[in-house]
Amino acid sequence: MPNGLSRARRRERPAARAEGRLHGVVLPARAQVGDLIPLEVAGRKTLALVERADVAAWDLGEPAGEDLDQIFARRVTAAIERRRRVLPPDLTVYRAVHDAGDALPGIAVDVYGAVAICQCYGRAFRRHADSLARALRAYFGAVRVVERGPRGRSGSLDRWYGDPIREQIVNELGLRFRVRFDENKLGSGLYADQRPQRCELRARAAGQRTLNLFGYAGGFTVAAAVGGALQVDHVDSSRSCLRWASDNLALNDLDPRRHRFIEEDARAFARRARRRGERYGIVVVDPPTFALGATPFRVARDLGPLLADCCALLADRGLLLVSSNARGLNWQRLAAIARDAARASGRPAAITAATGQGDDYPYLDPAGALHHLKALWLRMVEG
Ligand SMILES: C[S@@+](CC[C@H](N)C(=O)[O-])C[C@H]1O[C@@H](n2cnc3c(N)ncnc32)[C@H](O)[C@@H]1O
Repeated sequence: MPNGLSRARRRERPAARAEGRLHGVVLPARAQVGDLIPLEVAGRKTLALVERADVAAWDLGEPAGEDLDQIFARRVTAAIERRRRVLPPDLTVYRAVHDAGDALPGIAVDVYGAVAICQCYGRAFRRHADSLARALRAYFGAVRVVERGPRGRSGSLDRWYGDPIREQIVNELGLRFRVRFDENKLGSGLYADQRPQRCELRARAAGQRTLNLFGYAGGFTVAAAVGGALQVDHVDSSRSCLRWASDNLALNDLDPRRHRFIEEDARAFARRARRRGERYGIVVVDPPTFALGATPFRVARDLGPLLADCCALLADRGLLLVSSNARGLNWQRLAAIARDAARASGRPAAITAATGQGDDYPYLDPAGALHHLKALWLRMVEG
């Protein structure tokens, strides 16, 4: 995200600077942020929603004589109906609109039971929040339209339509989670794009001692415990997340006292556990790209050394799940970091699978899918 934002750099050409261009097409000099304007791009007629006066616009595709209200209503309906046909009924948490893959570039809608959270990736949508909400209210009791701000915070647009709902219990194929919609924050406690990885973990966890680093509200912890993990060590630097994860275990009729909830920096925990000679059948590492805190975490800098400690913690034939949605970290780089980490730990290992987001994340261009969530499964090999 975001796909479909067409940009033309100001430095391109003096004429472009004066009038503003989009893929070689002059934008009207008076185009304002949020205006819907007809354009011709390389001989193709299209509608564009102006994101930055004179330099960037969201390409909404071929005009069909509709205004923006009608475009949003028709495309939102199509996206939701498509998912209703293919997603199982015991899934009440999923992505309902995914950017250009649903012909709505710059827009992502996540569903949590009766609530839809609509994230807008640009200023162009500020003027059109009511229109988006109207389309979504046909399906959901409460709709929050939010502009994405920096670092997981909401931007200047953050509006509820219908009575605000602060919590929901959602069902993911039999797993239950309490999600929350806090003011000024975008994280709900559960990332829908990790569903395939949670399913896989649940299927593999029986009898395994499991470590979940950066455990957050317990998505992977619940999946492993429901799958029959012997014990899950859930590590997170935030105390409130530990409580949240423990409550989510209880919500699934599991006894949180059979598992451990550890408030610690993930790197410090892994280092100490390695020194103590601990062994796990499964280790899950799904870190944030960047996190502030007493010891800030940066995936580009910190993932390699952390994975080396994690590989040392794995039992023979143990399994490491590592994932990231950092755009700067492609599959090749992630695989190289994982392989180097296994080598540094002195243990032979093989990458046995690469997985990612589910069917509710369609893409216009297959390359988009490859840049989204990247998850690798690394198996320790005896020898
Ligand atoms: C992106 S979420 C991780 C998502 C999680 N793996 C999941 O499946 O839902 C980020 C989490 O990492 C935690 N975190 C950030 N920095 C950390 C650190 N240095 N050590 C441990 N936890 C950290 C945050 O408190 C937050 O709960």
